[in-house]
Amino acid sequence: MQVKDLQFKQFINKSKVQEQVRALAQQINSDYQDKTPVFLPILNGSFIFAADLIKQIEIQCTVSFVKTSSYSGTASTGQLKTLIGLEASLFNQDVIIIEDVVDTGLTLQKIIAELRGLGTKSVQVVALLRKQPARAKQIDVKYVGFDIDDEFVLGYGLDYDGLGRNLKEIYKAVQK
Ligand code: IMP
Ligand code: MG
Repeated sequence: MQVKDLQFKQFINKSKVQEQVRALAQQINSDYQDKTPVFLPILNGSFIFAADLIKQIEIQCTVSFVKTSSYSGTASTGQLKTLIGLEASLFNQDVIIIEDVVDTGLTLQKIIAELRGLGTKSVQVVALLRKQPARAKQIDVKYVGFDIDDEFVLGYGLDYDGLGRNLKEIYKAVQK
């Protein structure tokens, strides 16, 4: 399948994805059975994963979609990312970040630091995909759907230049 200049091939099919999503939800249902966590899906990439995952959550929970916005700091600090869209106070809350894919982990590290600064009780991460660089850096992701190599993936919410989020399965770029 061609998207812009890149060729993609099927990688993880629908039923494998759903099976893993169910398994992740079951672990969370069990680990948080006496808690009321706040799910924080990071837009845009995690919207489909978040919807499927949250449908399988059976404990009480709340959901607040957030985004990271990059803004230019001074020349010396470079690009900083900050969370936008938080409606409720996260003070003393058990937060579960929902990410589509963790690559270098930089995005996640900044978000986690920001959340800790808000006085959260706990912060954990559920990610559908985790790439090799995140494992190398031992980024703390408690719940991982699939560990993959350092390859570019598309579909099930993930995009290439805005395209492909609607694809039902996960594809990967073919090396040229
Ligand atoms: P990180 O800060 O390097 O961990 O990048 C994480 C973010 O980059 C994810 O939330 C995605 O939005 C995006 N991203 C990283 N890898 C891919 C990919 O293979 N396909 C689509 N988006 C990606
Ligand atoms: Mg993302």
